[in-house]
Amino acid sequence: MRLLPRVTLILFAMQTDEIVLASQQYLFPAVFHYYREPLVITRAKNQFVYDPDGRAYLDFFGGILTISVGHCNERVNRAIHQQVDRLQHVSTVFVTEPQAALAKKIAGVTPQGRLTRSFFTNSGTEANETAILAARCYTGSSEIIALRHSYHGRSAMTMALTGQSSWRIGGAVQPGIVHAHNAYCYRCPFGLTYPNCEVRCARDIRELIRTATSGRVAAFIAEPIQGVGGFITPPKEYFAIVTEIVREAGGIFISDEVQTAWGRTGGKWFGIEHYGVTPDVITSAKGLGNGTPIGVTIATPEVAAGVTGLTLSTFGGNPVATTAAKAVLEFIEEENLLANAAETGAYLRGKLEELRAKHAVIGDVRGMGLMQSLELVEDRQSKAPAAAAAAELMEAARRNGLLIGKAGTYGNCIRISPPMNIGKADVDEFARLLDRSLEECVNGTGR
Ligand SMILES: Cc1ncc(COP(=O)(O)O)c(C=O)c1O
Repeated sequence: MRLLPRVTLILFAMQTDEIVLASQQYLFPAVFHYYREPLVITRAKNQFVYDPDGRAYLDFFGGILTISVGHCNERVNRAIHQQVDRLQHVSTVFVTEPQAALAKKIAGVTPQGRLTRSFFTNSGTEANETAILAARCYTGSSEIIALRHSYHGRSAMTMALTGQSSWRIGGAVQPGIVHAHNAYCYRCPFGLTYPNCEVRCARDIRELIRTATSGRVAAFIAEPIQGVGGFITPPKEYFAIVTEIVREAGGIFISDEVQTAWGRTGGKWFGIEHYGVTPDVITSAKGLGNGTPIGVTIATPEVAAGVTGLTLSTFGGNPVATTAAKAVLEFIEEENLLANAAETGAYLRGKLEELRAKHAVIGDVRGMGLMQSLELVEDRQSKAPAAAAAAELMEAARRNGLLIGKAGTYGNCIRISPPMNIGKADVDEFARLLDRSLEECVNGTGR
């Protein structure tokens, strides 16, 4: 008897409306979905995802910057399959080859080869929890500086680190965390303009430490590009200035690279490398596993040695997840994806600038490599955030078979983050679909 393809079996198990209904009935209502009518995805391959009717969508969001090397990447999945049949789990109280091999691989690609110690967990949230723990253990201080418009996760502490009220639910309170102004050049918190501003936002952190802390801090945590904030990209001097100030106050620098790592920003493994600064700790997740749950906190040997006493993550360093992650890194190297993210990213940026010249609703284009964003505004003079237009654009793009992401403290940014192994032809198709979507949702309503 001929076996039915897997997709068909899934459809036989549950119809589309049943899937939506069951999600609505049995998940926490807090599990929200994009789009007025939730989009059900049943399978994916490379840069495309498919709905139950077999309709293809060009995926330029990559499951929130997580699909780094294409959906169901063959080489990565082959490694996963082999590992699943060999050893699935024993926990970190035993030694396994996949965890050791991945840690060694990561140590070989960190900035200046300085961050050589890894602690594996399951998510970006846990990676940041571990980083804050390490900073506190290492420095003996507890106070943390985070940034406004940041996003660091959904645990109690990482919500308190986060600098956007909408992501700080449940009364996020954490003593000892202060939030500095961020480098939001399009909406400068000081009303200044770069470069005449002399990067005032960075220098203001000295004043923040003097006035809002005890004078000694454990860490400064920041994303090289603020992801959920709408790919807010600081000027090139920013991190060198801040790091010097924070280190003077006894603190370490944690670079939250949950979105920016593994070549996403083009030409470099980590986003922070574009700023010529070596952090003490890097945290990451998402693109490292290409969809396999994994988080990692990577530290200098000194900082890592500060974490003494008992701590463990049952699933951290899981053989299947670490096998997948190593295969992802090898694929990135073998296919030269750092260079592709730079080159195809520059091509993408050019297309977005063309769209900005055509559509007045696009106030700003920013980002690096294959991590680009549009900030939509009511008009370029007032810069009033166009959140409704962003929501409409999401719907129009979906209708046209294109997936993009939404972001921004004001809900008016569009995130564009395709798999890093796309080519210029994919970008051309993306630009065509986005242009059409902008026409429909913005010009179509007379804006
Ligand atoms: C910069 C950053 N840090 C941390 C996190 C939390 O990661 P996770 O959702 O895997 O816990 C995210 C998630 O979007 C993120 O963008």
